[in-house]
Amino acid sequence: TREYKIAVIGGDGIGPEVTAIALESIRRVTSGSGVEFKTTEFDLGARRYLATGETLTDTDLESLKQHDAILLGAIGDPKVPSGVLERQLLLKLRFSFDHYVNLRPTKLYPGVVSPLADPGEVDFVVVREGTEGPYVGNGGAIRVGTPNEVANEVSVNTAFGVERLVRYAFELASNRERKKLTLVHKHNVMVHAGWLWQNTVNRVAEEFPAIKHDYLHIDAATIFMVTNPERFDVIVTDNLFGDIITDLAAAIGGGIGLGASGNINPDGAFPSMFEPVHGSAPDIAGKNIADPTAAILSAALLLQHLNNPVAAARIENAVAADLATRGNKKRSTQEVAESIFALL
Ligand code: IPM
Ligand code: MN
Repeated sequence: TREYKIAVIGGDGIGPEVTAIALESIRRVTSGSGVEFKTTEFDLGARRYLATGETLTDTDLESLKQHDAILLGAIGDPKVPSGVLERQLLLKLRFSFDHYVNLRPTKLYPGVVSPLADPGEVDFVVVREGTEGPYVGNGGAIRVGTPNEVANEVSVNTAFGVERLVRYAFELASNRERKKLTLVHKHNVMVHAGWLWQNTVNRVAEEFPAIKHDYLHIDAATIFMVTNPERFDVIVTDNLFGDIITDLAAAIGGGIGLGASGNINPDGAFPSMFEPVHGSAPDIAGKNIADPTAAILSAALLLQHLNNPVAAARIENAVAADLATRGNKKRSTQEVAESIFALL
């Protein structure tokens, strides 16, 4: 029996509810298959912060690191000032574990209603950079609160960081049917960072002659995502652009309730972390009405990452089958879960 250790961070709001169901889907789909998943719960998020002032200690990081992967629910609570848990917990995890690939697939499953009138085929993956860009905290402000305030938030882009991400995106495109990669940036304005990205794509492309690649400015990309989403296969982009377009992507794919993501350290030096794109939705927490689908799909990404593609596909197929007949029925968290489990 191959044993995997999974660290579970339920987090805040609806996080624990949807995570429990995601875990259950992993258990069901792998039981008796010769792989076993041992889970450890971590108390991280608003509750602990409000009780102890701690967000993510060195000890937490050390014990998380002993795991093969992390399953995260959601982080965030109105009682905690904005930015604290984001920077000191979520982003600290991504940075500490060198999650340089933030993988966010969008697929419009049959039966799912998209806000687009005529969406056509929607099946693309955003490969968002996860450890650089404007997220690094390389900023500062002077004369704060005065009319002369100056605030800087400098985007950091390294050749090393951009190249390893771009190479991952080309490799991913090689394993997909349409073999197409689109760089999304803004090199008409952000000329230094933008051309580092473009030159890197052009150079790495030479190693992947089977992959077609093109470029869109971020603003134009938002138009095409709405008018011609079928033109996208693999999108590679920086941390902030990727943050923004993956919310748009989730909306196109039928809503943020379906968006799954992986924060991946492909080298395997650190555990990768899988989480729904949605937030903690404190207003509906504990009511058994949160949609667990995004968390379940994130569990499938986790299984894929841990070399269980068959189990991952079973989960994805069960979700697809449920979505095909879901319509806009109002169902509880538990009802959605039972329906998907029955289709596994
Ligand atoms: C996301 C979130 C985070 C991000 C926030 C909560 C820090 O929006 O995972 O997309 O900006 O990356
Ligand atoms: Mn976001």
